Amino acid sequence: MTLITSIGVVGSGQMGSGIAQVSAMSGFDCYLWDNNAAALNRAFESIKAQLQRLVEKEKITSKQAQEASAKLRKASSVQDFKNCQMVVEAIVENVEVKTRLFRELEPVVAPTTILASNTSSISITRLAAGVTRPDKVVGVHFMNPVPVMKLVEMIRGLQTSDETYNQSKAAVERMGKTTVLALDSAGFIVNRILCPMINEAIFLLQEGVKAEDIDAAMKLGTNQPMGPLTLADFVGLDTLLYILRILHAELGEDKYRPCPLLIKYVEAGWYGKKSGRGFYSYNS
Ligand code: 3HC
Repeated sequence: MTLITSIGVVGSGQMGSGIAQVSAMSGFDCYLWDNNAAALNRAFESIKAQLQRLVEKEKITSKQAQEASAKLRKASSVQDFKNCQMVVEAIVENVEVKTRLFRELEPVVAPTTILASNTSSISITRLAAGVTRPDKVVGVHFMNPVPVMKLVEMIRGLQTSDETYNQSKAAVERMGKTTVLALDSAGFIVNRILCPMINEAIFLLQEGVKAEDIDAAMKLGTNQPMGPLTLADFVGLDTLLYILRILHAELGEDKYRPCPLLIKYVEAGWYGKKSGRGFYSYNS
């Protein structure tokens, strides 16, 4: 099995920049690209700051931070991915946009290059059906915040080859992550369980239980690091609603019906931490 040593990451949001940071810190040659140049610059600044913080906390040496920085490069277009053995996309959750990106990449990269998706909700089989080498498409679903969370869900589409699966799994494990194999069905494992749990917490809030009490109950009663409403704000209420709608549509059961209060919050633009307001206020 050929060992992957070079990775391209598309999308410099929270997930993409986290994947790029972890790849570079794990010794992969990594290119990060975003069609929004300002977002790409912000991601590089943020990764630099994160590495600096890790040095200050004595988690890594300054030599290791320098080595990681040297491994990470800004791509100026998809052309820069030509030597990457695996490209991970972490762009908007839209099947057409993701398929378009993979089609754009196909003539640029080698025929052996793996096209991996960090999708949290889109079928890998469907994404793979849009390209000429469906055997090279695989799902690698990282958790937020990527540098901290140990898990990556691996998803095989119907046509994913054993080689693609084994190579990508080995690459992700060399980033220090633990992998699990999920089915290619809505929500995979984590979101299938997590999102209905958070949704239920929002129903309780709608029924009049205080947000602080719901979160304290789940933190102290089940040892979760964050209460479900805090976690919803952290993940993004728009993202949560999007995933619940996919679970509801694809699995067809009422238990996945998004809570009306969640829909209202998203309609109001209250997306959680990133917008300054969700179930809690982050203005300060
Ligand atoms: N990036 C990098 N490192 C971070 C970070 C970030 N965004 N946020 C926190 N950290 C680090 C801190 O620097 C700290 O490191 P240290 O122990 O070396 O000092 C460590 O994580 C702990 O952070 P804090 O002390 O500030 O705060 P907490 O102890 O509350 O930890 C947390 C923060 C790790 C985010 C923790 O609250 C947690 O695990 N929350 C649950 C996260 C979770 O469930 N994620 C999955 C969401 S679902 C998902 O991603 C799927 C998607 O498809 C929706």
